[in-house]
Amino acid sequence: MAFHQLLIRDEQSVRFITINREEKLNALNQTILAELHGALTKALADSQVRGIVLTGAGEKAFVAGADIAEFAAFDAAQGQRLASDGHRNVFDLIHHAGKPILAAINGYALGGGLELALACHLRIAVPNARLGLPEVTLGLIPGYGGTQRLTQLVGRGRALELILTADMITAERALEYGLVNAVVDQPVLLQKALEILQTIASRSPNAVAAAIRAVNAGLDPSKNGFEVEIEEFSKCFGTADFAEGVSAFLAKRKPNF
Ligand code: COA
Repeated sequence: MAFHQLLIRDEQSVRFITINREEKLNALNQTILAELHGALTKALADSQVRGIVLTGAGEKAFVAGADIAEFAAFDAAQGQRLASDGHRNVFDLIHHAGKPILAAINGYALGGGLELALACHLRIAVPNARLGLPEVTLGLIPGYGGTQRLTQLVGRGRALELILTADMITAERALEYGLVNAVVDQPVLLQKALEILQTIASRSPNAVAAAIRAVNAGLDPSKNGFEVEIEEFSKCFGTADFAEGVSAFLAKRKPNF
């Protein structure tokens, strides 16, 4: 699949996927969503790739939302399809990925852009980033998981404050809310993203995937997170990663996963 609105490169074992539609502040149109599905599926199937960074082109925006012009004339049935296709093809794919996906928020992360970051496992942001869910200004509500994932991350009170006021918050406030993991200066944003994912890449990939599944299960009302944790924990014992991790520890050497 050729990508027209994404830039893709690898550094060490990390794949960088950059949404490249700077003139529209990287707003998510249908082409970008389809390309993200393709690029993520490919990265997740590639055993050389141990982590993925999502970011936006330029210094102004990560993603300023779903493309408003594209859905301006939609009716309820089209809106339903827009949201459910997006969930299935991109947002849930990220949420359930067995490799860590980190959002490097290089500017505005609004609406679908913040929801994209929320679906990721980790988020870091530059100091001048602005984060928000402005959908109610358009007569909409967040439709790519924002009402659920923001609430899970920052709690009901803060989520409702952000969703109902539609106000943007600074990166500093987002850090205080636990909405981002770190705030780092623009020139070192991608370096920091690489460092975090390289640290994770040095750990057991099997255990990393199992940990994501167990944490996600606790947020899924149809699952018992504790049961899933026991199951995932026990399955680790039969793996080559477990044999390597434990023998490396006992031999006082670094594991090689
Ligand atoms: N969908 C479609 N186009 C968008 C967009 C979006 N979500 N966000 C920005 N753009 C486009 C603008 O229409 C403009 O295009 P143009 O140059 O052809 O007119 C271009 O990107 C630059 O944006 P502009 O609004 O001129 O930049 P700004 O610095 O004045 O304002 C924002 C920046 C982020 C505050 C403003 O673009 C904005 O409010 N965007 C929409 C955010 C939103 O509501 N997102 C949720 C969607 S559900």
